[in-house]
Amino acid sequence: MMKKEISSKKRAPDAKNKGLGLIFLIGFMGSGKTTLGRKLASRLGYMFMDLDHIFEAQEGMTIGEYFAKYGEDAFRQLESEVLKNNPYPENAVIATGGGLPCFFDNIEWMNAHGKTIYIKLAPKTLADRLQNEKDERPLLRERHGEALVQFIAEKLEEREPYYNKANIIANGLSLTAERVEELLNFKK
Ligand code: S3P
Repeated sequence: MMKKEISSKKRAPDAKNKGLGLIFLIGFMGSGKTTLGRKLASRLGYMFMDLDHIFEAQEGMTIGEYFAKYGEDAFRQLESEVLKNNPYPENAVIATGGGLPCFFDNIEWMNAHGKTIYIKLAPKTLADRLQNEKDERPLLRERHGEALVQFIAEKLEEREPYYNKANIIANGLSLTAERVEELLNFKK
C-alpha cells in the first residue's frame, strides 16, 4: 500500500513561534478576526479555531437562528461556556464573536489562558465592511447607512473598555498576519 504523502501546506512551527500558546483575536463584527486568524494560524503552523463556528456546529443551527429561538441572554451564556469548555491544543489561533469579551469574565479568562489581540477599526470602516454581510448578524439586521454607522459607534463605545483590556491593541487597517506575528513576538 502506498504511504500517504504528508501535506506540506502547513508550515511547521518555527523555533521562535513554538510557545505562543493560545492567541485570541477580539474586536467588533467585521474587523476581520476570521480572515486574519486563518492567515496567522497558517503562518505560525498552528491550528485555527473560530468560536462562532464551534458554537453553530455544537448547536446544529446558525447564531441567527439561535438568537431568534432562545434570545441574546441564552446566547451569551452558552457562548461563554463554549469559550471555557472548548478543548484547545497547546498552540492555536482563535477567532471570537464580537460581543464575547464584553460579557461575564470572558476577557479575564482569555487573558489568563492565552494572549489577546484587539483588532481596532473605526465605526465608518466597520460599517463599510459590514454593509454586505450584515444579514447573518442578528444585531445588525434592519440597520442601514448612517443608522448603521451610528449604531456601531454607540456599541463600540460600550465595548471598548473590554476590548482595551487586550494584551495587544493592533490598528486593523491593512493589518497583516506578518505584523501580528511581529507584535506577538515583541510582547513575549
Ligand atoms: C456578535 C458578533 C458575532 C456573533 C453574534 C454576536 C456581537 O460574531 O457572535 O452575531 O455581539 O458582536 P462576529 O464578530 O464573528 O461577527
